[in-house]
Amino acid sequence: MSVKDEVLHMLEANKGSYFSGATLAKELNVSRNSIWKAIKSLENEGYKISATTNKGYCLEQSNDILSKHSIGEFLKYPLDIHVYDTISSTNTVLKEMAEDGATEGTVLVASEQTLGRGRMGRKFVSPADTGIYFSILLRPDIPASDSLFLTTSAAVAVAKAIEDVSDKKAKIKWVNDVFVDNKKVCGILTEATFNMETGKLNYAIVGIGINVCFPEGGFPEEIDKIATAIFDKESDSINKRSKLLAHVLNYFMDFYNSFESKSYLKEYIDRSILLGKNITVIDKDGNKTAKAISIDDECHLLVRFEDGTEKLLSSGEVSI
Ligand code: BTN
Repeated sequence: MSVKDEVLHMLEANKGSYFSGATLAKELNVSRNSIWKAIKSLENEGYKISATTNKGYCLEQSNDILSKHSIGEFLKYPLDIHVYDTISSTNTVLKEMAEDGATEGTVLVASEQTLGRGRMGRKFVSPADTGIYFSILLRPDIPASDSLFLTTSAAVAVAKAIEDVSDKKAKIKWVNDVFVDNKKVCGILTEATFNMETGKLNYAIVGIGINVCFPEGGFPEEIDKIATAIFDKESDSINKRSKLLAHVLNYFMDFYNSFESKSYLKEYIDRSILLGKNITVIDKDGNKTAKAISIDDECHLLVRFEDGTEKLLSSGEVSI
């Protein structure tokens, strides 16, 4: 562990308490100058550290840093992480990078998006500092039709990660929304290009937006009734967003590395919020009530309409 990490570790374990430079230096068996440098470096990364002449250093309560370093601390895989305070859309920017040859495993992460995009051409509200918005670049050797598995495995990865960092239960609303307390907490937008001749993917970008806590003043009216966040107020834990993000990436890469086995599929089905319920199927011919019967190995949803006819849905909109 570097001196910086050790200092952070000590301040974090004793959050709210002051340590003098001399005490830290003695405890960590380094010079006071090294401690001073470590503190400056932590401050440069965005950590809020109170420094008082007589008392020393103290990590403030609100320190939810989203940085390459803080994410790296929880990450199992050697992903190429780029962190932005604000960006137009991580999917849009990563797409440009993909076209310019960026490699698989490039991940863009932002604290805010000014032009966040959702499915069906909708916007994705991405307010500053209360959520995480990120996109992963993949170059798998798979048919374009299999890209749905990237999205559905990402939903399971998010659900598992939410349960790792909170006491909430996470469910999945087919096909790719993650729900907490019966409201949407995360949306996923997978965008891909494919080779017309082979039918295989050139690359895919899996974009994930998670509401970590409620923005001040709540969500905008248009999503207030359907959206929620994992935590009520701004996180008072150190690097909660980084930990959540890294756990999502770790689970996602676990699934990706065993892509053929679809190891996540059972969990995807078990977490379904729709199965057994009456739902509304929204298509171009209008809205119809149906019962959600099952999800098959292709992640298609079987529904039974009121007249007894059944249909296998492969994409599209359904609501509860
Ligand atoms: C949806 O719910 O309709 C999908 C929302 C996907 C949002 C994420 S946030 C990160 C990435 N960048 C975007 O512009 N969109 C995705």
